[in-house]
Amino acid sequence: MNKEPIRLRVNGRVHELSVPPNKLLLEVLRDDLGLTGTKCGCDDSSCGACTVLVNGEPQMSCLMLAASYQDEEITTIEGLAKNGELDPLQTGFCEEGGAQCGFCTPGMILTCKSYLEKNPDPTEQELREALSGNLCRCTGYTQILASIRRAIELAREGRKVEVSKL
Ligand code: FES
Ligand code: FES
Repeated sequence: MNKEPIRLRVNGRVHELSVPPNKLLLEVLRDDLGLTGTKCGCDDSSCGACTVLVNGEPQMSCLMLAASYQDEEITTIEGLAKNGELDPLQTGFCEEGGAQCGFCTPGMILTCKSYLEKNPDPTEQELREALSGNLCRCTGYTQILASIRRAIELAREGRKVEVSKL
């Protein structure tokens, strides 16, 4: 298939690429940019493992043609740590065992990141609803919810954890 030039802004960096016009954003992130934190769990928009943020809003990258998202601000899990410090959600998941196989974790964290910016003190029911599009096959969700609670505490405390201490 013919390739076409596209320009993607991912994690604050601009990438000039040449890809088939029907290539999915999920495939471009993983295959062309090496950002393998974004996972393919189902390929039919039912698991949320491929979630990335587009202009701060969670979207399933397995549904998106890469060429349609030129010059949008795309954030993957690799872009969440800032200035060498983990996002509180990343620290919370580490401290509370929110990841077992870890396959769902990037999508869970990015969905939560967007949600907590709108609602920083959610009830358990609100959190469950916010995460309803992200499936986990391992944890039973108890540790995931505990991880998010921990992340909310960490954000309140303002405690920073360096990436290198992970
Ligand atoms: S891989 Fe996109 S929703 Fe499952
Ligand atoms: S930790 Fe394995 S799918 Fe969620």
